[in-house]
Amino acid sequence: RTTAPTSIVVFGGTGDLAKRKLFPAFFNLFIDEWMPKQFQILALGRKQYTQEGFRAYVLENLKEFSRNNNYTEEQWMSFSEKITFLNFDITDENSFLNLNDKLTAFDVACNKRTNRLFYLSVAPSFIDKVSVNLHKTGLASNIEKDRIIIEKPFGYDKASAIALNKLLNENFKEEQIYRIDHYLGKETVQNILAFRFANTVFEPLWSNRHIESVQITVAEQVGVEDRGGYYDHSGALRDMIQNHLLQILCMVAMDAPVEFESALIRDKKAEILKAVRRIKPEDINHYTVRAQYTEGVIKGDAKQGYRQEPGVDPNSNTETFVAMKFYIDNPRWQGVPFYMRTGKSMEQKKSSVVVNFKDVPNKTFVNGRNNPVPNQLTINIQPEMDIRLSFMAKKPGLDMTLNPVEMVFDYFECAPDSPEAYETLLIDALDGDSTLFMRSDQVEEAWDIIATIQEEWENGTYSPMHTYAAGSWGPAAADELLSRQGHRWLSTTVEELREET
Ligand code: BG6
Repeated sequence: RTTAPTSIVVFGGTGDLAKRKLFPAFFNLFIDEWMPKQFQILALGRKQYTQEGFRAYVLENLKEFSRNNNYTEEQWMSFSEKITFLNFDITDENSFLNLNDKLTAFDVACNKRTNRLFYLSVAPSFIDKVSVNLHKTGLASNIEKDRIIIEKPFGYDKASAIALNKLLNENFKEEQIYRIDHYLGKETVQNILAFRFANTVFEPLWSNRHIESVQITVAEQVGVEDRGGYYDHSGALRDMIQNHLLQILCMVAMDAPVEFESALIRDKKAEILKAVRRIKPEDINHYTVRAQYTEGVIKGDAKQGYRQEPGVDPNSNTETFVAMKFYIDNPRWQGVPFYMRTGKSMEQKKSSVVVNFKDVPNKTFVNGRNNPVPNQLTINIQPEMDIRLSFMAKKPGLDMTLNPVEMVFDYFECAPDSPEAYETLLIDALDGDSTLFMRSDQVEEAWDIIATIQEEWENGTYSPMHTYAAGSWGPAAADELLSRQGHRWLSTTVEELREET
């Protein structure tokens, strides 16, 4: 881990991400002694704060959003001294000159050219200005020491992502650019590679010979909250499928890299994205389901419909739920459907990968003895964090009846307080390790995969907009997508499996 003195510059320092994720992450890393000994955080924003006022604001947010509230006054004081607020106008060169003064002063205090991490947590329309001005002023010109983190959304479609990559590559070297997808920082997502490639028992089964289907679910209970303005121009396909779900798909489906090394891992992921079959416009309705939530009840509380949310057009045609089926055209996965679904205002918060194995070929256990249910491997990403392998066993008793049971690895049992995704990713960026960040080709491929769907949905020729009541598991059409092929969305606990047996 890096010990190099570092200046961290947060563009959008008074924004939502900084408040909920970035400051809590830096603070937890500081408490756990992962931060370099010498660092400063420059928070840039348009609002007006005194230094004391801004630090008080950070502290208030830590109390609400930090996973760890177990710290001393002294720890907070030494962390807060490292934070400086700069009133900043992205379009004004003077602001960059002022930033330069702060960065240089830190270099002088450390007696060397320090590392610099620029976090661009700004609206996409500002990335252009920030990049050009950083380049012009030479603030990020040291290829070894200076890194730029770019938050999502990375573009709006394939053309804008290509344009953004071009712009970034004109101003920085590719190895300086860290495109973040925070799902890749989640413990349970990272562990997919360890599970698959550090064991011998699973990988031989990991193909169309033994796997019937794979299901990836990212369900959220929250609606669009106060992000209606952004979300209504994005929708679930852009907001979740293009990035988080396709990245999970890569982890599940990629081949083993020769070594656990950034370029090699990213190559294998890019290969999978290239092999994902593109859906033809006339097939969109067969492969995808889009829907919007209407009013309903979540955890006993009434929830308004999407079109009534603040910031949302009352006639909006933006989807808050997507279910879809992908095929991967390579020898390992030919013929295996990968089902995905994601939605807001759903019954439960639940992200999981379910690998559904094929039926046993023999009919040894039939005729009233409970048909064996196929083996199922479930990787619960959140809020449960576990891996469960279900298999059939004899029910204790005098007769020979069967029952699914399971083997479980539970993260909370061994690490009740594991780091947040942003902590992992920030440490990697400070270390110059880009393994968990997206390369330009991955981002463009991911946009390419959804391009026809985006176009088709915008024209609305083939795919109706379904609805689902807030607090449900989505529209009936999402179940039909699977039942057409004799499949269904699978339960993620053995109790539910048993009930269904
Ligand atoms: C973000 C999306 O990238 O991920 C949000 O923009 C979504 O709409 C969020 O709520 C989900 O992240 P997590 O970590 O809470 O599952």
